[in-house]
Amino acid sequence: MKSSQPYILGDSQRAARRLEVQDAHFAAVSEQLLDDLALMPADRVVEFGCGAGSFSKRVLRRLGEGGVLIGVDSSEGLLHQAKALCENLGPARFEPVLADIAKLGSWLEGADVVTARTMLHHIPMVEFLLGRLRARLKPGTRIGFLEPDFRTPLGRLAYLEATGRPELAPLSMWGTAINQLYLANHISPAVGATLAQTLSMAGYRNVRSAWVETRSDALTVENMLMFYDEVGPRLDSLGIMSFGEIARQCRLLRELPTENLPPAWGIFRVACEA
Ligand SMILES: C[S@@+](CC[C@H](N)C(=O)[O-])C[C@H]1O[C@@H](n2cnc3c(N)ncnc32)[C@H](O)[C@@H]1O
Repeated sequence: MKSSQPYILGDSQRAARRLEVQDAHFAAVSEQLLDDLALMPADRVVEFGCGAGSFSKRVLRRLGEGGVLIGVDSSEGLLHQAKALCENLGPARFEPVLADIAKLGSWLEGADVVTARTMLHHIPMVEFLLGRLRARLKPGTRIGFLEPDFRTPLGRLAYLEATGRPELAPLSMWGTAINQLYLANHISPAVGATLAQTLSMAGYRNVRSAWVETRSDALTVENMLMFYDEVGPRLDSLGIMSFGEIARQCRLLRELPTENLPPAWGIFRVACEA
């Protein structure tokens, strides 16, 4: 079984911009997760898949003197950008670590908190990792994850399209493309839906789970366009969507009025203790 693979989205400056757009999109739910984690100034926090550092910045703002954030990512390009963004932000220290989180290295030692935003679904069969993670943590370690949901909103989108809003089709096409890309890479786009149950089964305590939908607006559409821009060649080569169809979908997205759009994403927020 493959434990990890290259990050299937991009790691360029443009990918970092997409993650920044995503951060604005997930601002409220990110802060709620950090409230759940009850961060204390001197905590040692380990962040899985910190990417270009936009969630890391939010964590660091809540830490103080003696606090440390270990940002672990397998993409050198994104980690480099995280370093530039997060160094010298305040009293707490940022330590970037280039590693595959599936291997649970020595960087995990002494963690008071383990967190990740929109990351777990990039790990094939992440349930194994979550079980092994609990075995490595000291009891009481606080855990918090945000995982996106690209599937459940498709039910409402399909209903709306069938009842007089055909212009919403590019939102569902995008949802289909991202789901199919993940499935073609043997990763599950729906890890969040079963995350609370997985953590309970692995013996984590006090598991709390919430689901919220995220608004659809001009930022959402920008994010979708960037997705096509980054992974277009892979969508084409995997037979998920041809270049011609991608160009058509991008045009339809650009033409879509951004007022009054129904959500195309949800997000699961799950917290517990080891
Ligand atoms: C969708 S991005 C999220 C980035 C960041 N958490 C945020 O919310 O802005 C997923 C991140 O996970 C990283 N990643 C994917 N697989 C990984 C692995 N096996 N080990 C470490 N990092 C990984 C990618 O490089 C990428 O930075």
